[in-house]
Amino acid sequence: MTQDTVFPPNPKALDAMLDWANQRIQRGPDPRHGAQSVAALAARLDGAITAKGMDSARAFALFSDVIVPSTRPFDHPTSLAFVASAPSPAALGFDAVLGSAGIFAGNWDGGSGAIYAENQALAWLSSLAGWPATSGGVFVSGGTMGNLSALHAARTAYPGPRPDRWRILASAEAHSSITAAARVMDAEVISVPTDEGGRMDADSARHALSQTSGVFAIVANAGATNCGAIDDLAGLARLAAEQGLWLHVDGAYGLAAMTDPTQRAQFDGIEQADSFTVDPHKWLFAPYDSCALLYRDPAKGRAAHGQRASYLDTLDGQAWNPSDYAIHLTRRARGLPLWFSLVTYGTEAYAKAIRQTRDIAEAIAQGITDTPGLELILGPQLTVLLFRAPGLDDDAIDAWAEAQRRSGALLCLPTRWRGEKVLRICVVNPNTDPDHVLTVLRTLP
Ligand SMILES: Cc1ncc(COP(=O)(O)O)c(C=O)c1O
Repeated sequence: MTQDTVFPPNPKALDAMLDWANQRIQRGPDPRHGAQSVAALAARLDGAITAKGMDSARAFALFSDVIVPSTRPFDHPTSLAFVASAPSPAALGFDAVLGSAGIFAGNWDGGSGAIYAENQALAWLSSLAGWPATSGGVFVSGGTMGNLSALHAARTAYPGPRPDRWRILASAEAHSSITAAARVMDAEVISVPTDEGGRMDADSARHALSQTSGVFAIVANAGATNCGAIDDLAGLARLAAEQGLWLHVDGAYGLAAMTDPTQRAQFDGIEQADSFTVDPHKWLFAPYDSCALLYRDPAKGRAAHGQRASYLDTLDGQAWNPSDYAIHLTRRARGLPLWFSLVTYGTEAYAKAIRQTRDIAEAIAQGITDTPGLELILGPQLTVLLFRAPGLDDDAIDAWAEAQRRSGALLCLPTRWRGEKVLRICVVNPNTDPDHVLTVLRTLP
């Protein structure tokens, strides 16, 4: 039988796409881009999918001229809201070609070379934590999936009889993904009050533990999203060991700072944790989507995860199969852009970029302190800082933030801290210019 080539390659169209990717990586994003209304998008995109298709240049223009401008460019150096992203050019360029290699990285059989290289990047992270070489894990889509997968492993490893109610102990500043994971697991989160900097200490955790039952894991923050706090990891590790509990460290944002030797001591105690997560797509200069999930004892990850089916019986169960370590089966080798960036620039460049980012956050904090009409409330803790403009009411703060976003000057959004609407900055981009940021902030008072 002679088959028709239903999907003929179009070399000119491929060139144009790769050229666009090249330009985007070198030029960076346009900070004025952002969300559009459904009506505006419908007007440009409705009817795009047709029975006969369209010329690929026209199809690609829908992406470059309509879709991209309707997305928020988190990787711009002026993007200081939420936890942004700052992928290196090598990581972005590599990511652009990774898809074309069509690698199945769910199991060793499908993706051995990619998995070996991903594991090198994981081993680097685990060595920064002071973990043994026998530790290991997998890259999943994001911190939410990493935290859920780790907590499921924690519960599976629980040595005692099944309690009436499963519970997770976490700081009041824990990321919303911990509550989301608890909901999926039909568990309850016991929220531990924090100190004035948003930090959970071991005494507060011990007190909360004494008031409840059924706790199978303590979740510690290593860089709380809202305030950057790092919990008392050493004290919590001792508490977890004493009580026979699993300690999971959510370092989706903050654990990147382990790469800078001058910041490493803040994480002392992580050596004793059972699992941790850190997202290369946040502060480790890799593109979306990527979370490194590490288990001190990977057998505990394997006991909780992995899928069995007769059609999978041909696979080597003794090999390192990433699908055994989280809730997934098919996966792209999403750890490879981090690996490629590390291989290209070297780990010292990572330490330097992290240190530089921290210096930028300190310079912004100092500038806020020095500016009449602005008040630094907290930080920088890692690279998060909270501040207020006492002369402005809540509506005026919203209006200012929206005006800066629209003009592309700065993405700096409000949050709540101890009940008050305040402004928050989180720097993850070593190219953020603190002088520019301060010039914009000085339009506030
Ligand atoms: C501390 C922390 N944990 C977990 C997450 C969730 O990560 P993701 O959005 O990649 O699922 C975030 C996201 O900002 C975070 O800051």
